[in-house]
Amino acid sequence: MEKILITNIAKYVGSEIELDGWVANFRSSGKIGFWQIRDGSDFCQAILDVKVLSNEKWEEAQKVTLESSVKIIGTVAKHPKKEEYELQVKDFEFYQIAADYPIAKKDHGPDFLLDNRHLWLRSSHQWAIQRIRNTLILATYEYFNQNNFIKIDSPILTPSACEGTTELFELEYFGDKAYLSQSGQLYLEAAIFAHGKVFDFGPVFRAEKSKTRRHLTEFWMMDAEMAFADLAENMRVQEELVRYMVKSILEKNQQELLILERNVKPLENILKPFYKITHAEAVKKLQELGSDIKVGDDLGADDETILTKQFDNPIFVTHYPKEVKAFYMKRDLEDDSHVLCADLLAPEGYGEIIGGSQREDNYDALLERIKEHNLPESAFSWYLDLRKYGSVPHAGFGFGLERITAWVCGIAHIRETIPFPRTINRLNP
Ligand code: 4AD
Ligand code: MG
Repeated sequence: MEKILITNIAKYVGSEIELDGWVANFRSSGKIGFWQIRDGSDFCQAILDVKVLSNEKWEEAQKVTLESSVKIIGTVAKHPKKEEYELQVKDFEFYQIAADYPIAKKDHGPDFLLDNRHLWLRSSHQWAIQRIRNTLILATYEYFNQNNFIKIDSPILTPSACEGTTELFELEYFGDKAYLSQSGQLYLEAAIFAHGKVFDFGPVFRAEKSKTRRHLTEFWMMDAEMAFADLAENMRVQEELVRYMVKSILEKNQQELLILERNVKPLENILKPFYKITHAEAVKKLQELGSDIKVGDDLGADDETILTKQFDNPIFVTHYPKEVKAFYMKRDLEDDSHVLCADLLAPEGYGEIIGGSQREDNYDALLERIKEHNLPESAFSWYLDLRKYGSVPHAGFGFGLERITAWVCGIAHIRETIPFPRTINRLNP
């Protein structure tokens, strides 16, 4: 008898099989018991019949509780009408009869669920979200692999800031100071001189005091960097990557999208070209929509929400004022007041999912920026070196995995997209 995963159950109609799982739900109508089984790979219904089981087993089955772990032996049958499969149980064995499970079917508040995140991960919504996250990770590796990028792992312990000094986690490092990385970008810039096109993918840290639905203190960032690339090429690659990721979800995760009740229409627009507007145009549009944003201001979270509700596909906002962006971005030679950058905003109110730019490749200009931003010159001497030995025009970008996952899943808060969220007021479990 074969031991199977529920995800493969369709291949076994009519056969007797064995599977291991948990009882996600159960009900009984006197002489028949229905257990909803999940094994991690999928869900199926197991049917326990008093006429089929031994008396002893039938009695034992009455002890079932939510989340009890079981081995089941039974015959697979297809639901007469739906694409669903059932298991006629012949025999079963409890691994454990679970204690009273704290997460019941009734609505719990977010704090209760987050305190029980170690258990909440099992519920079907959370299961679907993590599987979508997994597909997004896989798609990212696939896309870069198919496009001549290699993965370079950037360090997490760093001597200096990448994205401004106010959001740094600082720690003691053998009598010196070290910081948790905010982005691997600067290290990837070094690696393009060896490999041309590179990416990294790992946890980054921001000591953000913000309590919004878009901010975590630990999140997963993918940074990509390309030699001999400008702003236009940077946007082209981002568009292709995001399209590839969303297409993968539509191909592989229809069941998960259904569980999440995600309207897939907006995701299907991904095949159309993304929108492109300048920061100045975005400000004008926002003012028309009632925002009090002024020329030269960064887009606030509310602005991004208002703006992206107007669009049915991702939007590049380009050419931000130099004052609101990082020191490494290259100024536009035609208009020195703004930088050659683009943020990619997800539609439907989601907002920024990618930040990217062409990088300052001129030694003197970069040194000036480092000074202007009051960054410690000595910590950046290696970064300046890159502009001394074969400097080239180059560009790159970084996405926040949780931001993309939240948008694709259509969920309100980013904290559900990471297995164990860390926010300003949560470090547990
Ligand atoms: O826009 P950011 O700050 O850009 C960078 O760090 C660049 N060094 C990336 C690069 O060019 N290689 O961050 C990139 C993305 C954002 O667009 C957003 O999706 C996500 O990271 N992000 C956050 N996600 C969750 N919580 C936070 N606190 C985030 N801050 C940024
Ligand atoms: Mg940004």
